[in-house]
Amino acid sequence: MDLKRIFENNEKWVQQKLDLDKNYFKRLSEGQSPEFLYIGCSDSRATAEELMGLTPGEVFVHRNIANQVISIDNNVNAVIQFAIDILKVKHIVVCGHYECGGIKAVLQRNDLGELNSWLSSLRDVYRFHQKELEAITQQERKYDRLVEINVLEQCLNLTKIDHVQHSWSTTGLPRIHGWVFNVRTGKLEDLNFDIEREFSLLRNIYELNQKKTSD
Ligand code: CO
Repeated sequence: MDLKRIFENNEKWVQQKLDLDKNYFKRLSEGQSPEFLYIGCSDSRATAEELMGLTPGEVFVHRNIANQVISIDNNVNAVIQFAIDILKVKHIVVCGHYECGGIKAVLQRNDLGELNSWLSSLRDVYRFHQKELEAITQQERKYDRLVEINVLEQCLNLTKIDHVQHSWSTTGLPRIHGWVFNVRTGKLEDLNFDIEREFSLLRNIYELNQKKTSD
């Protein structure tokens, strides 16, 4: 790809926005107040804004390989903390996608060097749900199911975070949603997980005793 094209595209985009609203960028520069945080895969086909039809300012985005929420990942933790404490987002979405290379690597057990440590928690997801996954005989269905289950586990990882639990107890928000992008059809599908209910079953393990604030 000719990188010059990108700057030409950008010029056109700026002009289109200004044609519709000459103050567009002035308004954009004044601040952001997106209502939701989207955590998706870095895969170039699983875009965030474009597939949701959203424009700049409408969604706070974090992407990494296989849309993971890993407790010792400073990057995702900073994004989540900022989204909750500063932006006060109402929703957090974890969005997986079919044909995910990270998920395939887990099932194929390829040695990917540096990537092995990032993918090891996906192997744990597989282990937690081994029975269900190994009962699936059709390979594509097995890949797809691991994509879906991974979204569930990453949603549950969100519930283990102190900022999320604290916000739940004070405002009842954010709501957590698990979605999947079907790259074969272009459709976005809600997996309809009831994360609050799932968390209630795991409360005795993951709920943190909140720090007392002295007044
Ligand atoms: Co992916």
